[in-house]
Amino acid sequence: MDSSRIMMKRSREMKRMLLLTFLITGNVFCTTKSRPNFILIMVDDLGIGDVGCYGNKTLRTPNIDQLADKGAKFTQHIAASPLCTPSRAAFMTGRYPVRSGVAAESRIGTFIFSASSGGLPKNEVTFTEILQKEGYSTGIIGKWHLGLNREWKDDFYHHPLNHGFDYFYGITVTHLRDCIPGNGSVFLAGAAETLKQTFVIVGITLFTLIFLNKIGLVKIPGKVFGYILLVFILFIVPVLFFFWNLHYLNCFLMRNYQVIQQPIIYENLTRRMTSEAVNFILRNQNKPFLLYMSYIQVHTALYASATFRGKSKHGIYGDAVEEVDWSIGKIVNELNKNELRDNTLIYFTSDNGAHIEEISSSGEIHGGYNGIFKGGKATNWEGGIRVPGLLYWPGVITSETVINEPTSNMDIFPTIVKLSGATVPQDRIIDGLDLMPLVQRSNVSSEHEFLFHYCNAYLNAVRWNPRNSSSIWKAFFFSPIFHPEDSEGCFNSHVCPCCGHLINQHDPPLLFDLSKDPGEKNPLGPQTEPNFYNILRTIEDATKDHRENIPVVDNQLTVNHVIWKPWLQACCSSWLEFCYCDYDEELVFE
Ligand SMILES: *[C@@H]1O[C@H](CO)[C@@H](O)[C@H](O)[C@H]1NC(C)=O
Ligand SMILES: *[C@@H]1O[C@H](CO)[C@@H](O)[C@H](O)[C@H]1NC(C)=O
Ligand SMILES: *[C@@H]1O[C@H](CO)[C@@H](O)[C@H](O)[C@H]1NC(C)=O
Ligand SMILES: *[C@@H]1O[C@H](CO)[C@@H](O)[C@H](O)[C@H]1NC(C)=O
Ligand SMILES: *[C@@H]1O[C@H](CO)[C@@H](O)[C@H](O)[C@H]1NC(C)=O
Repeated sequence: MDSSRIMMKRSREMKRMLLLTFLITGNVFCTTKSRPNFILIMVDDLGIGDVGCYGNKTLRTPNIDQLADKGAKFTQHIAASPLCTPSRAAFMTGRYPVRSGVAAESRIGTFIFSASSGGLPKNEVTFTEILQKEGYSTGIIGKWHLGLNREWKDDFYHHPLNHGFDYFYGITVTHLRDCIPGNGSVFLAGAAETLKQTFVIVGITLFTLIFLNKIGLVKIPGKVFGYILLVFILFIVPVLFFFWNLHYLNCFLMRNYQVIQQPIIYENLTRRMTSEAVNFILRNQNKPFLLYMSYIQVHTALYASATFRGKSKHGIYGDAVEEVDWSIGKIVNELNKNELRDNTLIYFTSDNGAHIEEISSSGEIHGGYNGIFKGGKATNWEGGIRVPGLLYWPGVITSETVINEPTSNMDIFPTIVKLSGATVPQDRIIDGLDLMPLVQRSNVSSEHEFLFHYCNAYLNAVRWNPRNSSSIWKAFFFSPIFHPEDSEGCFNSHVCPCCGHLINQHDPPLLFDLSKDPGEKNPLGPQTEPNFYNILRTIEDATKDHRENIPVVDNQLTVNHVIWKPWLQACCSSWLEFCYCDYDEELVFE
C-alpha cells in the first residue's frame, strides 16, 4: 500500500469520525434544545400495589414496568388529594386544589352529575393553555372530571377545549357503577335500605289505616289516601326513575363538543381510546404535542374487552388493569415506530390510591391494592395518596433511576412548562416543583420540605421532610373512623368523610415517622420520640405560613354547584328519545 492511499484512507476515517462527532453532538443538541413531546398517563383509582414495578407479582403489567426499568421510579409520589376531582385540578394547575376552590366544604368532594355547574375556574392557568400558546398540539383522551357547562346547556364553560386542549375524546364527569346497568349503583346503594324501610313503613301504615277505616274504628276521609298516593307519585317515583336511568344522562362520550355515544357501550372502550391515542400521535408526529391519556378504568364499573375478560388472576379488576397496561404498550410502540421515542417524555401515575371500599354486592373485590400502605382513596393515610409515579425519557433519564424523595403530582406542571420553553406563571403561587433536577441527579434532595394533605377543603395532615435528617414526619389533625374499627377502610360509607361525627380529631396531632413506619401503625408520643413537641411546633409554624397564603375563592363544589341541573344536561336526541345516540364508529386497534 503506498503512502497516498494510506493518507486517503486516513482522511476518509477522519471524515467519518468528524461526521460521527457531528451526529453525536447534533443529537445532544436535539435532545436538549428541541422541545419534547409529552404523554401524561393517568389511571383512575389504580393502587400502588397493583403494579409489577412496585412489587405486585400476580398482576401482569409488563409495559408499565418497562417504563420504570428504562426510566425513573418515584417511591414517594404523592397525589395532592385522595379524590379524583381535586387531585385532577391540582394536576392541571400545579396548585393545591383549595387555591382554585375545587375542594369541597360539604360531604360530596367530586362532581357526580354531568349536568352540575361547578368546574375548574377560567382564571386558573393549566399547563395545556401554556403549551398551546407555545405551539403544542394538545389532546385529552379519557376522563376530564373538571366540569362541563355553567349557565346553560352547551355553554361549555368548563369543557377541556376551554382549558387549553385542541382535541377531546372522552367523558366529562366520573365513570360510576350506575353507568353499566346490572353493576350496582353508587346512589341507590346508600338509598336502597332507607327506601325499602320507607316503603315498608308507608305500606303498613296505609294498610292499617285502610283496615281501621273499613271496620269503622277511625274515620279518615278518602282524600287523605289520595294525597299520600299523590306525594308518592310526584316525589318518590321520579327520583327512582331518575337514578334507574342515570346512565342515559351521565354516561356519554364526547368528541370535542359533540356527544357521540349516549349511553356509552363500554366493552371495547379501552381499545377505542387506544386507537384514538395512536391516531393523535400520527396526526401530530411532525410538531410538538402533548397527549393527556386519562384512562377511565380502573374505576368501577369495571369492564374489559373479550381479549382480556376472565384472563387475569384478579377478577374483572385485574382484567381491566391488564388491558390498560396493554394499551400503554401500544402507545409506546407507536412512538418507537415513528422515531419519536427519544423526544417524548412519558409520565405515568394514578389520581389517588385504590378504593378499598369497592366491593360488589356479590362480594367480589372491585378496588385495587395499596401494598403495605394503610387506607385508600378518600383518606390521607399513605394508601390514599401515595401513588405510582414514573418518568420515561430514553437518552435523558437514566435507566433504573429510583427517587425516594417526596414528589407530587403538582410537580408535572412546572416540569413540562419549563421543558416546553415557557416560563411558569409569576402572578400566582405554584406549589409544584420542577422534577428534572431531581431526576437528573443534579439535586438529590427534594425541595418539598413540607407537603400539605387535604381531605376536601380541610387540612388533614402535614408531611415534613427535614433537610438535615432522614426522618419523614407526618402529623394528622384528624383521621377517619374505620368501620369496623380494626379494618382498613370506612366500609359503612362508600367514601370516608372529611368532617362531621365520622372523624376523630387529634390534639396533639397523631405523629408518625414514615421513614421507619411507612404503614402508619405506631403513633409517636413524647415517650417514644424525645423531639415530639419540637417536631410538632415546626409543623404548626409551617402550617400557619401555608394557611396565610390560601386566598378565599369561590367554591366550585358547593351543594349548588354539585346538584343536577336539568337545564345543563347534555342530550344528543330529544328528551322523549331518552338522550340516546351512537355516532362512534368502532375504531378498534388490533
Ligand atoms: C356488569 O353487568 C354486565 C351486564 O349486565 C354483566 O355481564 C357483568 O357481569 C357485570 N359485571 C360486574 C363486575 O358486576
Ligand atoms: C368489541 O370488539 C369485538 C372484536 O372486534 C367485536 O366482536 C364486538 O362486537 C365489539 N363489542 C361491541 C359491544 O361493539
Ligand atoms: C396484586 O394486585 C392484586 C389486585 O389488586 C391484589 O389482590 C394482590 O394482593 C396484589 N399482589 C401483590 C403480591 O401485591
Ligand atoms: C438544591 O436543593 C436545595 C434544597 O434542598 C436548594 O436550596 C438548592 O437551591 C437546589 N439547587 C439547585 C441547583 O436546584
Ligand atoms: C434539624 O434542623 C432543625 C431546624 O430546622 C433543628 O430543630 C433540628 O434539631 C435539626 N436536627 C438535627 C438532627 O440536626
